[in-house]
Amino acid sequence: MMWALLSLLLFIGHVACQGPGPCPTACSCSGEIIDCGNRGLTAVPSFSKDMNHAELQLENNNIQTISNNAFSQFQNLTKIFLENNNISLIESNAFRGVEKLVREVFLGSNQLTEIPSALGVLENLVWLDVTDNPIDHDHFDEKTMYEIGDYLNRFEFGSSSLTEWPTTVRHLQDLRFLNVSGGMFYTLPPDAFHGFEGTLQTLAIQNTELIALPLALARLRFLEKLHFDHNHQIGDSGVLIPSFGGQDRLSRLRYVSLIDDNLTMFPSLFKILHFVETLVLDSNSLAFVSDSSINVAIGTSIVDLSLRNCSLSRVPGALSKLTNLTKLNLADNQIHSFENSDFDNMRKLENLTITRNPLGYIANETFKDLVSLQYLDLKESNINELPEAIRFLKSLQTLKLPLDRIECTCKIAWLKQFKDHCNTALSIDGSCETINYPVEIYLDMFVTKCPNYENVINC
Ligand SMILES: *[C@@H]1O[C@H](CO)[C@@H](O)[C@H](O)[C@H]1NC(C)=O
Ligand SMILES: *[C@@H]1O[C@H](CO)[C@@H](O)[C@H](O)[C@H]1NC(C)=O
Ligand SMILES: *[C@@H]1O[C@H](CO)[C@@H](O)[C@H](O)[C@H]1NC(C)=O
Ligand SMILES: *[C@@H]1O[C@H](CO)[C@@H](O)[C@H](O)[C@H]1NC(C)=O
Ligand SMILES: *[C@@H]1O[C@H](CO)[C@@H](O)[C@H](O)[C@H]1NC(C)=O
Ligand SMILES: *[C@@H]1O[C@H](CO)[C@@H](O)[C@H](O)[C@H]1NC(C)=O
Ligand SMILES: *[C@@H]1O[C@H](CO)[C@@H](O)[C@H](O)[C@H]1NC(C)=O
Ligand SMILES: *[C@@H]1O[C@H](CO)[C@@H](O)[C@H](O)[C@H]1NC(C)=O
Repeated sequence: MMWALLSLLLFIGHVACQGPGPCPTACSCSGEIIDCGNRGLTAVPSFSKDMNHAELQLENNNIQTISNNAFSQFQNLTKIFLENNNISLIESNAFRGVEKLVREVFLGSNQLTEIPSALGVLENLVWLDVTDNPIDHDHFDEKTMYEIGDYLNRFEFGSSSLTEWPTTVRHLQDLRFLNVSGGMFYTLPPDAFHGFEGTLQTLAIQNTELIALPLALARLRFLEKLHFDHNHQIGDSGVLIPSFGGQDRLSRLRYVSLIDDNLTMFPSLFKILHFVETLVLDSNSLAFVSDSSINVAIGTSIVDLSLRNCSLSRVPGALSKLTNLTKLNLADNQIHSFENSDFDNMRKLENLTITRNPLGYIANETFKDLVSLQYLDLKESNINELPEAIRFLKSLQTLKLPLDRIECTCKIAWLKQFKDHCNTALSIDGSCETINYPVEIYLDMFVTKCPNYENVINC
């Protein structure tokens, strides 16, 4: 009885503050968002008149069909999330009533076999995601692609059912961002990007059978970011220079990732990509990366280099020739020790990340040139003695050490002196092995009582 009354009051309350268009019982509504995600729904709920929410979340359900007029009660709908359902049919008038409103539609991981022609009516559609649907190249309908082509600036597609490049993407005349995930093709036609060669800024291509960086890339005059990841057939031969022709090509490209592309060498490509600032080579087996191969990066603009999970067993010697580096990521490798010369000349380095390496030894002079280093991450390593080399790091602000490993004894009194006098901005994250305290607390509470403690130091 009480419960019924309460529910009734709640219901009235809801209607009163939402104005027209109460929240469907299956969903929860707040502000501009209707959240009907993860509810086991088998159909789009029916909405009452005059819903004024902007965002409709229907992802992670078991919806199979989007029926005509499914959204026609909405006055202000801009985003529809439908990913990870079982949608195989979108009826031709599904978007009736919201033609001018909807800007973003997410249909990833469904059972669509063609680009739904119903989308053609959406006059302001700027972002469409149909990744991971069984749509082959000849089901990117010419008319639909033409209709959505005027406004669309982000398009995401691709699946293991895609056997060739869909040539109708040429109708996407204003595309800025293209993300292709999955494709059984091993080459792209040279004019694959025709239509948006003068607009595309970000290109991501992953999980394809491509055997080389496509020549078509060289025509993307405004490309700034290239993510070319998890293309296992690439290998060293797939990133050879000739693909890119003249020197002036790709002059706006600043970011390149070639993650998990089966590379074993530092790609010579960067001899011609002079302007790239960030290079991510994670998850390639660069175990024997030679000094001569890294030499190709000298004189380029690379300042941020990531070699995470590259099977490295030592810091590659030639890295110290890349004196412009400000950020270096060596996480998830098999590096056991740092030798004195490993980071020679890296006077601009600000961020050094070495998480998850079996690193147990750091030579005393290792950090002598790292005058700009602000961030040093040694988490999940085998370090137990505090490395004396830290004394060189006068700009360091964040030091991350392993948890419950550090030998906190009077032997680390120098660190307290260093923090008090040489680098007062330093904060230390990590904890002691033998005593249940963070290193920082140990320094403040215990070290001052050590017999060898003096409050003076030569910085
Ligand atoms: C529609 O959304 C815009 C911004 O998203 C908001 O300013 C406007 O008040 C909304 N209109 C209605 C009727 O809720
Ligand atoms: C998905 O939809 C198809 C019909 O299109 C149906 O046969 C199948 O059982 C559905 N899958 C699930 C997991 O409900
Ligand atoms: C491209 O799409 C895939 C799959 O949806 C996603 O994992 C990846 O983060 C996207 N890439 C970019 C650059 O947005
Ligand atoms: C990686 O490249 C090597 C040749 O360098 C080749 O033998 C191997 O099959 C490739 N691996 C994959 C997963 O394609
Ligand atoms: C490390 O790289 C290998 C390929 O060399 C890849 O299969 C694996 O998933 C990567 N692991 C992580 C944690 O990224
Ligand atoms: C560092 O950058 C400057 C200016 O971009 C460049 O002239 C120089 O060759 C670079 N040095 C190295 C070692 O790459
Ligand atoms: C340093 O780089 C790591 C790895 O990319 C990142 O997680 C961390 O936030 C960076 N630290 C700073 C201070 O930028
Ligand atoms: C490193 O420095 C410490 C303290 O100054 C010293 O005890 C140790 O012998 C040095 N180790 C090496 C290998 O020079």
